[in-house]
Amino acid sequence: MKPFSFLLFVIFCPITFSQFTTLTNELSKSSIKFTSKLYREVAKINSSNFLISPLSLKITLGMITSAARGKTYKEIIRVLHVNNELEIVTLIQNLSSSTFVKDTSLISANKIYISNSFKISSNYLANVKDNFKSQIQLISFTNTKKAVEEMNKWIETKTKKKIKDIVSPDDFDSSTVSVLLNVLYFHDKWLLQFNKENTETLPFYVNPTTSIPVDMMKANISVGTSDDTNLKIRILRLPYANEDIAMHLVISEHIDGIHLLEKNIKEILSTTVDAETIKEVQIPKFAINSSHNLIPVLEKMGMQHAFGKDADFSGMLDPETRLVQINLLKQSTLIEVDEKGTVAAAVTQLQGKYRSNLVYPKFVVDRPFIFYIQYKSEVLFIGRCYSP
Ligand SMILES: *[C@@H]1O[C@H](CO)[C@@H](O)[C@H](O)[C@H]1NC(C)=O
Ligand SMILES: *[C@@H]1O[C@H](CO)[C@@H](O)[C@H](O)[C@H]1NC(C)=O
Ligand SMILES: *[C@@H]1O[C@H](CO)[C@@H](O)[C@H](O)[C@H]1NC(C)=O
Ligand SMILES: *[C@@H]1O[C@H](CO)[C@@H](O)[C@H](O)[C@H]1NC(C)=O
Repeated sequence: MKPFSFLLFVIFCPITFSQFTTLTNELSKSSIKFTSKLYREVAKINSSNFLISPLSLKITLGMITSAARGKTYKEIIRVLHVNNELEIVTLIQNLSSSTFVKDTSLISANKIYISNSFKISSNYLANVKDNFKSQIQLISFTNTKKAVEEMNKWIETKTKKKIKDIVSPDDFDSSTVSVLLNVLYFHDKWLLQFNKENTETLPFYVNPTTSIPVDMMKANISVGTSDDTNLKIRILRLPYANEDIAMHLVISEHIDGIHLLEKNIKEILSTTVDAETIKEVQIPKFAINSSHNLIPVLEKMGMQHAFGKDADFSGMLDPETRLVQINLLKQSTLIEVDEKGTVAAAVTQLQGKYRSNLVYPKFVVDRPFIFYIQYKSEVLFIGRCYSP
């Protein structure tokens, strides 16, 4: 008998993480390990710009962990660098909070579509509902057109129309048991914004002999930086208005040094950025769209059973059967960085008064770079930009 399969999508993402009080500037060890391995595997199979969300992937895997048993369970836990699935639940609770902040810029939403042709364990459903605040909806996967429309509509609403039409009719059929979706949406302005009038067309060196013209944003602002002279790495930390969240841009001292950065991604994520000083900062405006099939990536990271005939997600069905496996796991992401902020839609004003007769040290991002957005102990997004 053909194993039933279920699909799992991860979509670009920020959970209403809204208590911005306890500011931890350091990533957790588990986040560093998971993010650096994920980054490396994605970078290996992708030769251009990309963007992935470690946190969204973690939440989505967390939602299927309670259905997993045996080796399938152990592998997921090991890949996520946690001891059990409750740790993921605690992590989400730690990041979110009952205290609601208005105009929050960080939202995560989960939804599980369940086939009406299967009997899903009520324990499993209660678990994802309570622990992951997931919405649950019964759906007929045989009416493909309707199911696709329904899912894409939910995604479009949750991403404020930034991500559209990513679920395709080819993704499922009558053997589909369930589809899990996580959306992480982030939108914030910079704490100190760039003045549009200072943006200039300047060269960005895609390699030592070739440059392309880019819109370079410029400002003299107080930023955190860290220079590692051994590894020849420079890191810039740019805070958002919500100061628990910051973008980090990482360049090499060598124009063609991005491969050195990638080798040291774990050290980079472990670096604490120094106290803030005023720098003349130059950053290109950029936008990245990516879509990743994460099955080969997670297999390389050590999760093999979940995608094959030996998968054990027996906790999902009632009565328990070992006939469910993951047959689709993809993540679609989008980022837009400009003078105002990231995924910007709000109109805001520039602030900042600087002493004009001082010469500030420079931090110019004019070569391929790695960037990541950190929220407390977790990496929301990480990516590479070869060319803006
Ligand atoms: C959650 O927060 C508590 C208290 O700050 C901390 O002890 C614990 O390690 C955190 N757990 C996770 C998984 O982040
Ligand atoms: C992302 O891709 C879609 C479709 O391919 C395109 O319409 C959109 O402009 C892209 N956005 C960015 C930021 O590149
Ligand atoms: C590599 O990145 C590009 C653009 O970001 C994306 O369209 C493509 O799907 C990615 N390839 C893989 C194998 O993930
Ligand atoms: C930053 O300050 C320098 C003087 O140190 C000045 O020449 C430059 O125009 C300033 N840049 C911006 C964007 O204000």
